[in-house]
Amino acid sequence: PPGFQAHAGAEIPIGGSRFVRACLKQPVDRTPVWFLRQAGRYMPEYQAVRRHHTLLEICKQPQLAAEVTITAAEKLDVDAAIIFADLLLPFECMGLDFEFQAGEGPVVHHPVRTADDIARLRTDRAGELGYVAQAIERVVAHFGAPRGVPRQDRLGIIGFCGAPFTLASYMIEGGGSRNYVHTKTLMYRQTDAWRRLLDKLVTVLTQYARQQVEAGADVIQVFDSWAGALSVEDYREFVLPTTKILIREIQSYGVPVIYFGVDTATLLPAMRETQADVLGLDWRTPLDIAWRQLDYSCAVQGNLDPITLFAEPELIRNRVRHILDQAAGKPGHIFNLGHGIVPETPVENVQHVVKFVREYAAEKAIR
Ligand code: CP3
Repeated sequence: PPGFQAHAGAEIPIGGSRFVRACLKQPVDRTPVWFLRQAGRYMPEYQAVRRHHTLLEICKQPQLAAEVTITAAEKLDVDAAIIFADLLLPFECMGLDFEFQAGEGPVVHHPVRTADDIARLRTDRAGELGYVAQAIERVVAHFGAPRGVPRQDRLGIIGFCGAPFTLASYMIEGGGSRNYVHTKTLMYRQTDAWRRLLDKLVTVLTQYARQQVEAGADVIQVFDSWAGALSVEDYREFVLPTTKILIREIQSYGVPVIYFGVDTATLLPAMRETQADVLGLDWRTPLDIAWRQLDYSCAVQGNLDPITLFAEPELIRNRVRHILDQAAGKPGHIFNLGHGIVPETPVENVQHVVKFVREYAAEKAIR
């Protein structure tokens, strides 16, 4: 029908928020901006909630998760709100216990190491993740955003899930990793089991993403945070095919997909083959070089070094402008960091970035 854009077998309303428009490479009145990990420990309001609740409690109580999501988006005055959740939540419904240990990140109690471990993982209980969709419903209701309303100022609501490689690495290593020895060993030596593991993850992740879209998420971001640990050959052989299936399936629910990884300069052309609408860029490659390398065939998100937020406002402004200049003249740039905000970040510097992005747009409009 008119007013809709065909998209991987589904239809996306044209004329949504400037964030969704930018994801689809449609022209926008100004570059949208939001931040990876915009709700988190650097923010006193989050710390206050965290004093009374564990991370998992916040994730599992839709009212709390929605509150944290909304507070961060409003305090920063950004163009998109990412739902407060964690990458590892789907582990529980697959039968894996984990916890977040203070200062150490996530710990999986019985890491997945054998074909039998993989055979035991369940894929029939994704319904248990419904609390994330319920939190999204609350955020959507708060921002009063019926779908298809042509208003650029509407806030984009972002749902998310992990990508198969990054989630598999947490399952197999039992936590964060430096060299991914267990993960790559399983990948090389028990390739059939590796593929079964990734397939199981995709079965759960597609159901999970679908719940989030049905709850009103405008866009889904797929986090492949640690894909940069792979060579291009290994990425292509062991990771790309399943990731492509996941992303295409999510797109068929009618939303654009942002595919994000860190240290991915050499992987970008292969990541592009997933047909993701947007690729997240880290700060190591200049945005214009990365985008040109992709033939401008998708939108891009990024790519300020999150540690720049510790500099004086003057330097931050220069870096923000440099990124905007690199992206100028082409639709399809979403301003963001190259990775998440770290805990000690001064909140006012994050707010400065939002201000700088807006000011620069206004300046350009006058010229
Ligand atoms: O505002 C937002 O971005 C939404 C919230 C969000 C969290 N985790 C909450 C969280 C998001 C998008 C995530 C995704 C996530 N979780 C990723 C991918 C994003 C990335 O940075 O690449 C990863 C790798 C994880 C796994 C994870 N969760 C780790 C490694 C850690 C510990 C690291 C740390 O900073 O301590 C977490 C814990 C976590 N998830 C926190 C938050 C706010 C901090 C812990 C706390 O509040 O106790």
